[in-house]
Amino acid sequence: MRIAVAAEDELKTGQMKRVSIDGKRLLLVNAEGQYYCVDEMCSHEEFSLYFGCIQGKRIKCSLHGSYFNLENGQPLNDPADCPLQTYSVCVADAQVWVETTT
Ligand code: FES
Repeated sequence: MRIAVAAEDELKTGQMKRVSIDGKRLLLVNAEGQYYCVDEMCSHEEFSLYFGCIQGKRIKCSLHGSYFNLENGQPLNDPADCPLQTYSVCVADAQVWVETTT
């Protein structure tokens, strides 16, 4: 399923937007001018990554400080050791679209 979640120019680099698709809480991120979409909740504990920050192509969880690679969801340091789910994103017709499997 492909859903339009934002206007193409809605987020500046380093900004995030929470989106909900079919009950899933996701985070749309503009990192270095590129859009990414990952699960909103940290894989370590139930804490929103929306309260973290974007550094380059990484997102930092503000609760315990783990960084995740936005391209593949992989954790880059402890304490998180599970990847975030990532979702494909494309820009078309002046909108940002996220693809989910549901
Ligand atoms: S909740 Fe994110 S690193 Fe612990």
